[in-house]
Amino acid sequence: MEEIEKNGVNDLPEGFPKSLGQIKEMTMLYSCAMREICTKLENLSQEFELNKSRNPIQHITHRLKKRDSIRNKMIQKKLPMEYEAMRDEITDIGGIRVICSYINDIYDIVNMLKKQDDLLIVREKDYIANPKPNGYRSYHLIVAIPIFLSSEKQIIPVEIQMRTIAMDFWASLEHQLKYKQEVPNQREIVEKLTECAHQIADIDQQMWQVRRQIELSEDIPTEEEILMEKLSRIDIAISE
Ligand code: GTP
Ligand code: MG
Repeated sequence: MEEIEKNGVNDLPEGFPKSLGQIKEMTMLYSCAMREICTKLENLSQEFELNKSRNPIQHITHRLKKRDSIRNKMIQKKLPMEYEAMRDEITDIGGIRVICSYINDIYDIVNMLKKQDDLLIVREKDYIANPKPNGYRSYHLIVAIPIFLSSEKQIIPVEIQMRTIAMDFWASLEHQLKYKQEVPNQREIVEKLTECAHQIADIDQQMWQVRRQIELSEDIPTEEEILMEKLSRIDIAISE
């Protein structure tokens, strides 16, 4: 988080009619919002681990959007270069990425977040059920969280992207391709990537089925557990 606060101050759009105090405040607010949500996710993960004896979240990363990206997005959206426009219209200044092992864990976490009454769901995009034409898959949530300051409350939006390890592998390669200027056989590569996305979707499904089979077999009691259960019933019968 310290890293975010340090970078954030230097990384905001140039040409904003703003004071340094305003920038520092904004950076602080988004850092607080991301910290709150990361804590919520870690708590959920810990509880899930306790109940299911495995961790649904592989890892969580977060970032504060860079100055150039904010500026480009504001130009793209034809917004006035003003602090208020940025605060109200750019909902991914604070971004969190949650990487899970299985698709079902993503939906479980989404449902758990939706039950938290201090979180407002601003926008939701299920690119897992409805992948983008290029094959991009992820679950996107824009949530708004209240941040309590010494004398006021501010509602801050944060974008949460949730995906499996395989989806993340695909998205990072596809992202790299987007920023490469001249790639020979670009069309072929794009087609190949889309094909990989289909295969990854299939593998994600199969991995979940294998996991389910393991979990179901774990639920079947062992010979020893059956014996202990019978013995405990005998104990109860004798004491009655
Ligand atoms: P942005 O203006 O990019 O935020 O798009 P949007 O407001 O329509 O939101 P959307 O939910 O579609 O995408 C938000 C973010 O998801 C992007 O900034 C990327 O981080 C990620 N994303 C969306 N589409 C793709 C894609 O095709 N490939 C990759 N690698 N990432 C994507
Ligand atoms: Mg974005």
